Amino acid sequence: MGYNVAVVGATGNVGREMLGILAERSFPADEVVALASRRSLGVEVSCGERTLKVKALEHFDFSGVDICLMSAGSAVSKQWSPRIAAAGAVVIDNSSCWRYDSDVPLIVPEVNADAVAGFRKRGIIANPNCSTAQLVVALKPLHDRARIKRVVVATYQSVSGAGKDAMDELFAQTKAVFQIDEIVPKKFPKRIAFNLIPQIDAFMEDGYTREEWKMVVETKKILDPKIKLVATCVRVPVFIGHSEAVNIEFENPITADEAREALRNAPGCVVIDKHEPGGYVTPYESVGEDATYISRIREDATVENGLSLWVVSDNLRKGAALNAIQIAETLIKRNLITAKQRAA
Ligand SMILES: NC(=O)c1ccc[n+]([C@@H]2O[C@H](COP(=O)([O-])OP(=O)(O)OC[C@H]3O[C@@H](n4cnc5c(N)ncnc54)[C@H](OP(=O)(O)O)[C@@H]3O)[C@@H](O)[C@H]2O)c1
Repeated sequence: MGYNVAVVGATGNVGREMLGILAERSFPADEVVALASRRSLGVEVSCGERTLKVKALEHFDFSGVDICLMSAGSAVSKQWSPRIAAAGAVVIDNSSCWRYDSDVPLIVPEVNADAVAGFRKRGIIANPNCSTAQLVVALKPLHDRARIKRVVVATYQSVSGAGKDAMDELFAQTKAVFQIDEIVPKKFPKRIAFNLIPQIDAFMEDGYTREEWKMVVETKKILDPKIKLVATCVRVPVFIGHSEAVNIEFENPITADEAREALRNAPGCVVIDKHEPGGYVTPYESVGEDATYISRIREDATVENGLSLWVVSDNLRKGAALNAIQIAETLIKRNLITAKQRAA
């Protein structure tokens, strides 16, 4: 007997990916329920070969659910996650609502799977921001090898990271450019087609954006509070796949070859690093893949122990849906949850 799984936000970018991944990985689910807002009542979504009819979150009874994969934004999570947890389901949430709560574990299984056991306090586990997830997967093996002191990262984030409306906006604006139509930005603060925008999420008092702040605090919570990090987050006209140019300063010496070897042996990492045209991974090639790809690994001669690298991953998968499902698999593997029907 398997688990009863609810996917909240099943019509969204991340929710649809979750349904696909549950089927792909043969997740031990007896039942999968697709939930979204009232607007989507009766909409059909695919879960592998199966078609599910979307139900409305507000009328759903969670008492039979074991695992709830939440992907409907912070406001929905704030209202619903505690209620769903109180009904006895473990909530794995994709929004930023619970990430910084000390009673909620923030998990990337390749990096801090042991922390998952802390979920019992609130019944909620948080998934990190998409840019943080792929970054810490690449940093972890390097940190283990040479202790990271400081990270400087610039991101090149795809529009799918801002939801399905944002993808539609890039598509519509691109079409408008070719048809010489007027472009009116709605979802993004400026035109995104054939452009890029150095702002993701709202500005904070110190001039950084919340997206940049999230990368700092989440890296500390997941990997090591001693790591200093500074980020510049940029939205680019790419549909799916986030890229990051990362510069790292270490306490101990590490060569580019040693870094390549550490990354090659690390879970979730794939190194593609040939010194020839095209010998690296681009976001387009990461679409639909599970791995975090690392390319362009170079020693940085401007600091004592420094490396530069290029990190690419599918933000809807490792950055969101895949990571959430890996968390659920970790709970099962470690016998931290029991299916309600099995327990009854
Ligand atoms: N995209 C990424 O790369 C990424 C990465 C990490 C985390 N996240 C987070 O994951 C969450 C979802 O992102 P997304 O990209 O999938 O967004 P999206 O494409 O805009 O989808 C939003 C989903 O939430 C549902 N929803 C909205 N309001 C609701 C309500 N009141 N009750 C029930 N369902 C409601 C929508 O249902 P309707 O269709 O019925 O409106 C839709 O299914 C966000 O918190 C986001 O920050 C996204």
